[in-house]
Amino acid sequence: MEGVKILGVGKYCPENVVTNFDLEKIVETSDEWIVKRTGIKERRISDGEGTVEIAYKAALNALKNSNCGKDDIDLIIVATTSPDKIMPSTACSVQGLLDCKNAAAFDISAACSGFVYSLIIADSLIKSAGKKRALIIGAEVLSKIVDWSDRSTCVLFGDGAGAMVIEASDENSIISSCFASDGKLGEKTLVAAEINLNTPFAKSENIEKRYIEMKGGEVFKFAVSILPEIVNDVLDKGNENLENIKYIVPHQANSRIIDEAARRLKVNREKFYVNVDKYGNTSAASIPIALSELSEKGLINKGDKIILAAFGGGLTWASTLIKF
Ligand code: ACO
Repeated sequence: MEGVKILGVGKYCPENVVTNFDLEKIVETSDEWIVKRTGIKERRISDGEGTVEIAYKAALNALKNSNCGKDDIDLIIVATTSPDKIMPSTACSVQGLLDCKNAAAFDISAACSGFVYSLIIADSLIKSAGKKRALIIGAEVLSKIVDWSDRSTCVLFGDGAGAMVIEASDENSIISSCFASDGKLGEKTLVAAEINLNTPFAKSENIEKRYIEMKGGEVFKFAVSILPEIVNDVLDKGNENLENIKYIVPHQANSRIIDEAARRLKVNREKFYVNVDKYGNTSAASIPIALSELSEKGLINKGDKIILAAFGGGLTWASTLIKF
């Protein structure tokens, strides 16, 4: 078997809905400003659930939708920027909760591009390292690392998790992909939660960035130029054109970024699946949550071609052209 097939997707989002009106009570902002500048109306915020817990719940949903048992999984990758602990990895904790005895497990840190990075890595490990079935999860409890007194960032983010199961197959669902990074630009524009523990050898008083800090305008410019570029890249590599693509599922950061990417690609905005209004920016979880929603709504049929396109902290970017 030389290919990889998508078996199913799933999601879990905390029940607690925080609206823009709720945020008006804690920072100087307005529903009107947030909707106009971002398209976000509400987001889910964890009420005590950690990243492991929501990753586990999304995994259970994806396994159920894939008709897969825990012992079928031999690889677990979790993409997250907001782990509960540095060690064990979120993926190892999920492996323990699921009791997947046969699985290797590790985390990927590529911010909002993390899920697509993980899909590319899982595809490659199935094709090159003899793995048979992988569980890939994007999970974030960003509310832990958001500065709730900073109106320029706290209105943007939300918590949630999405997952996908893929397996070795004669079919090929992962048609083409690209992923890359720019660390210099990343340090200047988007940084969160510097690690500095209080030890005799670490200067704990020097913690400068406890929370997400972002130069929104710079990230915006980067996002609107990279999104069309990576979509065209996977189309070229896959020898495909946009007419044959049912949906583009972009990272859900800001509806204005998606509007501008659609304009630059000269494609109808309806081709982009957008749910940022309901969840805000859930970083690594945004693409699998959107895919899962598409599937729940019955909007994806077998054989449909979809482009996943992500950008985020690092800076990182990644895209794949997949076939369901
Ligand atoms: N409510 C009211 N006013 C606000 C708010 C708010 N929540 N936030 C900022 N403002 C004010 C600013 O203070 C500024 O006021 P001033 O003109 O008096 O100085 C004004 O609104 C304009 O601020 P800008 O930052 O210029 O607003 P902009 O139109 O650029 O929108 C935003 C900001 C939404 C952050 C936008 O730049 C954006 O979406 N950037 C991209 C973010 C992104 O894609 N991140 C993805 C990666 S995230 C990750 O990887 C974890």
